[in-house]
Amino acid sequence: MNRLQQLQAVVDADLPLTTNLANASAVLNLMPHINWCGFYLAEGQVLYLGPFQGTVACTAIPFGKGVCGTAARLKQTILVDDVNTFEGHIACSALSRSELVVPILKDGTVKGVIDIDSPVLARFTEVEQREVEQMAAFLAETVF
Ligand code: SME
Repeated sequence: MNRLQQLQAVVDADLPLTTNLANASAVLNLMPHINWCGFYLAEGQVLYLGPFQGTVACTAIPFGKGVCGTAARLKQTILVDDVNTFEGHIACSALSRSELVVPILKDGTVKGVIDIDSPVLARFTEVEQREVEQMAAFLAETVF
């Protein structure tokens, strides 16, 4: 089973959102060479920390701030090969070197983002970007 299939296997639309996203974060964490992965959930124009795997993280990110808030504002995936080159990057962990943020969109509205950090420069491939985008689309359809 690939990671998308594992996500589909653990998510159950009858369960609460937090329950589904908690297990979804564990599936994201199957990705090798990452140091943080999880969800920020939108309330108004702010992203609040949701279920995740990793060390303590920033709790609230306004739309337009950092990689997460920029992805939410633009409603677009952002793949950052070197976080030091992304102006406004919010360093939750000093270990993070590259980052992938995929917005979760439902009917054109941003419900949240999936955020994955790696201690390796240019860790994420376009194939993985598409994989995480498929995960976000699946979650948007089933649990949001
Ligand atoms: N680096 C993110 C903040 C979230 S942490 O990486 C978990 C950003 O710039 O939005």
